[in-house]
Amino acid sequence: MPRIVRPTAYGTPDVLAVTEVPIPRAAADGVVVQVRAAGVNPIDWKLYSGAFHDVDDNHKDAAGIAASMPQIGLECAGVVTEVGAQVTDVEVGDEVIVYPVTAAYADYVTAPATSILAKPAALGWPEAGSLILTGATAVHALHAAGVSAGDTVLIHGGSGGVGLMAVQLAAAGGATVIATAAERNHALLRELGAIPVTYGPGLSARVKTAAPQGITAAVDFAGTDEALDVSLALVPDPTRIASITGSPRRAETGIKLLGYGPGEDAGADLRDAARADLIAQAASGTLRVIIDTTFPLAEAAKAHEIGISGHAPGKLVLIP
Ligand SMILES: NC(=O)c1ccc[n+]([C@@H]2O[C@H](COP(=O)([O-])OP(=O)(O)OC[C@H]3O[C@@H](n4cnc5c(N)ncnc54)[C@H](OP(=O)(O)O)[C@@H]3O)[C@@H](O)[C@H]2O)c1
Repeated sequence: MPRIVRPTAYGTPDVLAVTEVPIPRAAADGVVVQVRAAGVNPIDWKLYSGAFHDVDDNHKDAAGIAASMPQIGLECAGVVTEVGAQVTDVEVGDEVIVYPVTAAYADYVTAPATSILAKPAALGWPEAGSLILTGATAVHALHAAGVSAGDTVLIHGGSGGVGLMAVQLAAAGGATVIATAAERNHALLRELGAIPVTYGPGLSARVKTAAPQGITAAVDFAGTDEALDVSLALVPDPTRIASITGSPRRAETGIKLLGYGPGEDAGADLRDAARADLIAQAASGTLRVIIDTTFPLAEAAKAHEIGISGHAPGKLVLIP
């Protein structure tokens, strides 16, 4: 019987349970995909952590009961097993990348045909299943901060899933990249074209030493007050600072906030449009998807425990 991993309550990863469900059926405009790899992203544990509980409270049913627990697993790759009647450009047996999607921590997932992109043979399953969410977020953040050739960009959280994508994309675009990370990840960042700097007290001075020419833009994937304050101190124009996570303080600073909360830009069209190019770059090897660890589907809770610690250099991926 096919399995799915779902949170059974709000809380820590121990609320995740593996249950057996029938194979889902395709909608007329959608497909069913047998999942070969599902990317793990911080949004997955944030969704059931209670951090977004206010959002859930806005979605009560007519009886005033809170919406059902969130589905988790927002990207994957796999093989098409059923195609809806209205879908013309996807066939059973196609190897595909699926994004955006919900409930991808499963043996089978349904998705609209608009979420389906061909998986190049050159791309492995773990890489294909964990490329797009971080890659498209990185593209969005660099775009929002206006990063282009000639810029010196400060990337906070350069060794995380989103950061590793942004470092490579900014460097390939001709920017000088200063990236913050723990010391043990500096060699990897150098390999990808960045000048690594250790975060923590004294960050501003270390960045100035690494970039005496000055910082023209910053993207924050760490979300600490330190990252916000150093960005504001070093980047002359706050509209050239983009942040995907952090405290409510950010709203009063004039920087660009990206995401799905109030006052944030979700950038859905830009992110969707970025998918094909990200796949092409990853298939050609010019963009590396760095996998930290793969886990069997049933070990999703273990993957989340490691992810929550916030120091995995690269992607965590579930393999059903
Ligand atoms: N708004 C959106 O659309 C959107 C999209 C995707 C992700 N996000 C959010 O963005 C954040 C990053 O996502 P991710 O997938 O890149 O996470 P991740 O892979 O877990 O990476 C976490 C990063 O944070 C760094 N870090 C940990 N502690 C730090 C500290 N005290 N100061 C500075 N950096 C620190 C880590 O560096 P070391 O490992 O080197 O210590 C690592 O680079 C998450 O909060 C996620 O929810 C938002």
